Amino acid sequence: MKTKTTSQSNTAVAELENSAAQGTLPREITKTLLVGLDLGTNTTCIEYSNSTSSETELSELIPSLVGYARSGILPDVIPGNETTLFGTDALKYKLHLDLVQPLRDGIIEDMDAVRDYLVHLKAKTNSDENTEIRAVIGIPANTGPEARENVRVAVTGLFDKVILIPEPFLAALGCREVSKTSESGYIDPISNSIFIDIGAGSSDICLIQGYYPSSEDQISFAFAGDAIDEMIQEAIIAKYPDCGISIAKCREIKEQHSFVNGAKQSVLAPVMIGGKIKEIEVADAIDTACNALLERIYQAVRSLIVKADPDSIPNLLQNIIMTGGGSMISGIDQALEELLSGEGFEGCQVASVGETFKTRVATGALIAARQAGDRQWQTLLI
Ligand SMILES: Nc1ncnc2c1ncn2[C@@H]1O[C@H](COP(=O)(O)OP(=O)(O)OP(=O)(O)O)[C@@H](O)[C@H]1O
Ligand SMILES: [Mg+2]
Repeated sequence: MKTKTTSQSNTAVAELENSAAQGTLPREITKTLLVGLDLGTNTTCIEYSNSTSSETELSELIPSLVGYARSGILPDVIPGNETTLFGTDALKYKLHLDLVQPLRDGIIEDMDAVRDYLVHLKAKTNSDENTEIRAVIGIPANTGPEARENVRVAVTGLFDKVILIPEPFLAALGCREVSKTSESGYIDPISNSIFIDIGAGSSDICLIQGYYPSSEDQISFAFAGDAIDEMIQEAIIAKYPDCGISIAKCREIKEQHSFVNGAKQSVLAPVMIGGKIKEIEVADAIDTACNALLERIYQAVRSLIVKADPDSIPNLLQNIIMTGGGSMISGIDQALEELLSGEGFEGCQVASVGETFKTRVATGALIAARQAGDRQWQTLLI
């Protein structure tokens, strides 16, 4: 049971809304903050800067989690006797909290929790009522109208103006190395690339050829890291019915041992069974789940390549870039390259952005915020 009820949770939001609303008419904007926000199923990244500065003031990763204190909790068990905790604090005290993941499959699942979470994020900007906040927010490729509207509703009263942009496009913007020239063999990802963002909730693939991508240039499906965890759990339970392995443990095993194409014969993972640690064989489970993702990614990339202008394809094939946590699956970039080459796409090169996947979308969002003209911002009215 949540001790912090929805009505209490709404109070904090309502206070913020009221103060913003009261300030609407006489509000004198003394400062404009630009925010780049990657609201992830698993992890959120927020970056912001003053509109007059090119310096990023904050770049922070926060687990996308809200924890509400359970009823009957004794005083001083949770620091400051807080009723709502966020991110790593929510994880730390999870035993005493009802943990809520505000997003699922890349889109908002729990509006109350996401509002509370966004209030927490906004507090990080140290803004006052005379600060105008303009946020570029990443959304999965081809997000439907309802899910887009939910994002707008969620940030109304917290941010003044927003632009919603597909996440793989923002990742491409965040990977752009403006100082490099094409003479050095560098192909600007915004001018010609395929970006593949494999997150926790969704895989998003986007063809980018110098223009803002249309819906035909984007493919999104709700099969990514979380789905792999579920497949691994199912396979392990089918093999070891008494192990009662949790999703969190499957995710840990995946992050440590993930691979594709039968690259590992054996992976022994220590799992608690009946109070005793036992080593169980999990290679098959990992292989099947990671290959299922690889196959879907391959089919999606293939269908975007064949849609591209034939003259653009040679350069495009050299610029297939993987990002998001799923791109950390060992060997997935190489395996995709081999599948595409095997299909006859000559000269194909697939690269992963590596550990920096965590901030690419938010960095791209902040770049987009700096580039946006006044007319592109959508004003959110309370
Ligand atoms: N080394 C690894 N091997 C395999 N998977 C990994 C690895 N590291 C992270 N992941 C997985 O990547 C996913 C998280 O990726 P990311 O942070 O890009 O997701 P997100 O942005 O929160 O989700 P989404 O974009 O779908 O909303 C999780 O499923 C996580 O387990
Ligand atoms: Mg993401």
